[in-house]
Amino acid sequence: MRKPIIAGNWKMNMTPAEAKELVGALVPLVKDATCDVVICPPFVDLCAVKPLLEGTNIHLGVQNIHWAEKGAFTGEISANMLKAHGVEFAIIGHSERRQYFGETDETVNLRAKAAIAAGITPIICVGESLEQRESGVTDSIVTGQTRAALAGIDAVDVRKLVIAYEPIWAIGTGRTATKEDANATIAVIRGAIREACGEETADAVRIQYGGSMNPKNAAELMSMPEIDGGLIGGASLKAEDFSRVVNY
Ligand code: PGA
Repeated sequence: MRKPIIAGNWKMNMTPAEAKELVGALVPLVKDATCDVVICPPFVDLCAVKPLLEGTNIHLGVQNIHWAEKGAFTGEISANMLKAHGVEFAIIGHSERRQYFGETDETVNLRAKAAIAAGITPIICVGESLEQRESGVTDSIVTGQTRAALAGIDAVDVRKLVIAYEPIWAIGTGRTATKEDANATIAVIRGAIREACGEETADAVRIQYGGSMNPKNAAELMSMPEIDGGLIGGASLKAEDFSRVVNY
């Protein structure tokens, strides 16, 4: 019922020339994908990549968005500017932004609302640290992050957005969550959406797993009923690897 969605988070990698090469190699490899395919390059690569995506099944995303329409926000980029580049998705609240750039539940909520207002689909990231997992507070952490991210967003808009459950300890570490753990925590996130927005909305929202997802573990993770896709970091930087995840 929910169409799977696999997104590549390139993080701070790829010059425009490298980006073109990667996309050029990727297009034929994912053309028959049965899931939605998204790539999220750095802002400076958007112009290089966009023409190569015309007429393909790959959607364009970014890794952040500012909440204001315009103004004195040095170094930031607004949703309208991104919309003008044909951007359809925006990763919001990635743990690296929360950890290194002062992103809070409140700014995640503001960014998500700005994306929605511009017609861009947010991919909202939530997830616990290793310390939080070991002290048994994972469920309350992801529930709190989910509630805060969705505060004040209408159910009709919530059902269209994407959530990425990314346990921080699994990101870039090669240490993937077990499919059972990932499935269970995603069920908790869906429960938080159910509480906030009702059953129908909770059933419609696509929730990805992210954290060292790769060609070897993708099929196993995707076999779980609650897991509707993946947010892929390291393995999205090689066309061959990313296509194998997409074609799990
Ligand atoms: P990873 O990153 O696949 O390299 O673990 C995932 C992410 O941070 O979105």
